[in-house]
Amino acid sequence: MNKLTIRGIEMAYVDCGVGTPLLLVHGFPLDHSMWNAQIDAMADAEGCRVIAPDLRGLGQSQASPGVVTMEDMADDLAALLDELKIDEPVVFCGLSMGGYVAFQFALKYAERLAGLILCDTRAASDTPEMAATRRATAEKVLGEGSGNLVAAMIPKLFGKCSAGRCPQMVTALRQVMLENNRQGTASAALGMAERPDVTASLGKIDCPTLVIVGSEDAITPAAEMRSVAEAIPNSQFVEIPDCGHMSPMEKPDEVNAAIAQFIATLQ
Ligand code: MLT
Repeated sequence: MNKLTIRGIEMAYVDCGVGTPLLLVHGFPLDHSMWNAQIDAMADAEGCRVIAPDLRGLGQSQASPGVVTMEDMADDLAALLDELKIDEPVVFCGLSMGGYVAFQFALKYAERLAGLILCDTRAASDTPEMAATRRATAEKVLGEGSGNLVAAMIPKLFGKCSAGRCPQMVTALRQVMLENNRQGTASAALGMAERPDVTASLGKIDCPTLVIVGSEDAITPAAEMRSVAEAIPNSQFVEIPDCGHMSPMEKPDEVNAAIAQFIATLQ
């Protein structure tokens, strides 16, 4: 992976291909590798310059202490694009926590967006109970590591069939989650607990937007994502059948086709 110093940390990222810049932003507590089935496909076949970073504190990117907000992560990504001298508008594709970051990026750096792809995410903030659970989780991760968090999350990530069809995918993701830095995982959990509700701002997103969701997503349900798509003026909604929360890993061919078709409409 490439590394650059961004806003006080060393940030790791994949940068490959030539063409429309496509920023692939992972979920929690994962890293860029959840996009492995998109990175080469989009760079080789679809004429994109793919940038797939590890967000602050996750994967091979350095952690920083305290809360890392979704806006902090959006600022990191804007700074990464600056360092890479990518001035033209990008297609920002974020999954789940990556989608929370995408909303912050869209609201703060609207002029830097050619298109927005929201995968398996939500616009609403945490309820007070959810936020309290996240804060308790962050404390536990700092003290004991991510074992309990990972055991609780894994059963919710994949659709009913996918996990059985491809156990290696589940094993690989569990490994990434367990190997992530404790501080980075805790800081991101605290940041998600603080994230604002952006539902009332969805009407302000004025770039073309693609909303993708797995029909069996147990974390960010399809009905909720359909409402997000309906509130964004220039949006398309794609529901992937027999698929859970990790749609780009579970159904890469369908997700890649939806992304490729969307990017083709931008040119
Ligand atoms: C993710 O996949 O990024 C997380 O499930 C998001 C969350 O916990 O809200």
